[in-house]
Amino acid sequence: MQKRLVRKLDLEMLLSRVPPNPSPKPNLEQYTIPANVASTMLYIAAYVNNDIVGKAVLDLGCGTGRLALGAAFLGAEWVVGVDLDRNAVSEAHRVSQEINLGKKLQWVVADIGIVHGRFDTVLQNPPYGVQKRGSDVAFLERALKLGKTVYSLHKSPHSGKTRVKRLKASSPSVMTTAPSPFLEEFIESNGGKIKAVYAMVMTVPHMFDFHNETKHEFVVDLYAIEGKRET
Ligand SMILES: C[S@@+](CC[C@H](N)C(=O)[O-])C[C@H]1O[C@@H](n2cnc3c(N)ncnc32)[C@H](O)[C@@H]1O
Repeated sequence: MQKRLVRKLDLEMLLSRVPPNPSPKPNLEQYTIPANVASTMLYIAAYVNNDIVGKAVLDLGCGTGRLALGAAFLGAEWVVGVDLDRNAVSEAHRVSQEINLGKKLQWVVADIGIVHGRFDTVLQNPPYGVQKRGSDVAFLERALKLGKTVYSLHKSPHSGKTRVKRLKASSPSVMTTAPSPFLEEFIESNGGKIKAVYAMVMTVPHMFDFHNETKHEFVVDLYAIEGKRET
């Protein structure tokens, strides 16, 4: 497979054209990943670790498909996006046709619990377990069974305003950080090995009635993990 280096700005512009979930539900934590966070995540997977180009990629809890579409755009061989929200998946399908990436992508409406198969790389921005405790680790557990390598976003336990400000002011606005002891233990006891953790700022617009700010900024940690695949 010939490598073609995609500019980060081009990736980010493409991802910003992918609309957010048309009818987000708070109990499923259906926040759409901002284009800048998605492109940083995809860039690390593709160009730091060589885990996207020519690979079989799974986007677990794909929503409207920003991570899946980005992986296809960067040169994944084929990509599957799974989400239980039919409206979000149909939006992802529509966009993939519109930007001519449809042939590489397969969209599935399903619960992650019934997904089987073997993938080189799993990408996920799961629910963070704020509304439904444990939903983030249920995603991690599944991803570690399906992927040789897993890239998983989690809300940082250190998300204070000072840290957000410091990260936003730094260049590049992503830093390596230590894993949370809880996730480290969970990942290792499920056969995974953490390669690196990257902290970055996520900005979520006002979406639900219980949001009392116009936007919410917090720190997310991207875990790059060597997983265990089902045989
Ligand atoms: C935080 S959103 C992220 C959406 C998308 N990956 C993105 O980053 O824009 C989490 C997604 O997981 C989906 N989800 C939650 N629980 C699920 C489950 N058990 N099976 C499949 N999808 C699920 C939600 O519908 C939602 O689209």
